[in-house]
Amino acid sequence: MSRQSCFKALVYGAGGMAGGELLRIISGHPTLELVGAVSQSKSGSAIGSVHPHLRHIYSKTTFISPENARTVEADIAFTSLPHGRSAETVRELLDRGLSVVDLSADFRLKDPATYERWYGISPSQPYLLREAVYGLPELHRTQLAGARLVSGVGCNAAASILCLYPLARLNLIQEAFLDIRAGSSEGGSTATAGSHHPFRSRALRIVEPFSHRHLGEVAQELSLREETLSMRLSAVETVRGVQACAEVTLSSSLKERDLWRLYRDAYGNEPFVHLCPARPAHQRFPDPRLTTGSNNVQIGFALREGGRRCLVVSALDNLMKGAAGSAIQSANLMLGLPEVAGLNMQPVYPV
Ligand SMILES: NC(=O)c1ccc[n+]([C@@H]2O[C@H](COP(=O)([O-])OP(=O)(O)OC[C@H]3O[C@@H](n4cnc5c(N)ncnc54)[C@H](OP(=O)(O)O)[C@@H]3O)[C@@H](O)[C@H]2O)c1
Repeated sequence: MSRQSCFKALVYGAGGMAGGELLRIISGHPTLELVGAVSQSKSGSAIGSVHPHLRHIYSKTTFISPENARTVEADIAFTSLPHGRSAETVRELLDRGLSVVDLSADFRLKDPATYERWYGISPSQPYLLREAVYGLPELHRTQLAGARLVSGVGCNAAASILCLYPLARLNLIQEAFLDIRAGSSEGGSTATAGSHHPFRSRALRIVEPFSHRHLGEVAQELSLREETLSMRLSAVETVRGVQACAEVTLSSSLKERDLWRLYRDAYGNEPFVHLCPARPAHQRFPDPRLTTGSNNVQIGFALREGGRRCLVVSALDNLMKGAAGSAIQSANLMLGLPEVAGLNMQPVYPV
């Protein structure tokens, strides 16, 4: 393929955890070409000095400043900045005529008041909230095609939404309790008192008891009332990986074969969502390690006696399907490329 048929990509927040993952995927993408790894604090440093696993690929590339990025010709930008810090940059990029995938939470919620309630700040570009398409192709494939602005997903939200979507779209959820187990990379690359290795390693710590902020996205995307959901987030001993365990009270009684049909109907043709077998027992529910380094999601479920309650468990790699993988999958759709382009990597196992 000639260089002319490539789409030129800028990555903002390229020195961060999700930004590094974007650089990794783009390095193997057949049609995206990195034209700028943008970093305020690391401008001028070699990419390999921050992402040593990519040193051999980007051996001649250094981070560029946001100021220098303004003059770089590009087709698409990925903004992987903290929430509240992304929206201004996104607006500027849209004004330049670029397509944008924003990985932060700044465009995930449609309603400005809901954003303010969960994030404690008002959205700086509220008029763009309606335009942004939520970047989960399993729900929004049609709207993503040709979109100008796509919002990335919350990793816990993506795991939860994909867990519940086959039930929610048929109004089968009366209420659901989401028990989320998350690895340390979810917290990004800056160490905090809670993430410092001696305290975080081997932790089994409850971070949020009832309502992690990703709950807002889950309610929005599944058209559920927030009151019907609760979400507990625990920090567990992994670096990558999210496991969402959803205990669902169903609005009507189901049989096991109904559950299989619902989940096969929803995901049978999805390239990255895979159902776990009912047997052997130790494989019935997914371990996030089975998705490490890939864009895959695994889902397993079981119905409780009586048919009104079920447990659905999903697992994914928070930096891939929970962030950069979904962002690239969405970008492929925005640009009219094959949806799976650049995302054919298989999981690394065991890890
Ligand atoms: N980690 C995950 O599992 C995950 C999953 C889904 C979504 N996300 C979202 O993706 C975004 C990036 O997350 P991350 O985990 O990659 O975080 P990170 O490792 O902390 O990286 C964020 C980057 O943003 C830049 N930055 C930091 N503070 C800034 C500020 N005040 N103003 C402007 N830029 C600033 C920094 O880059 P420079 O200083 O080098 O410019 C930093 O490298 C966040 O919005 C996060 O919510 C993360």
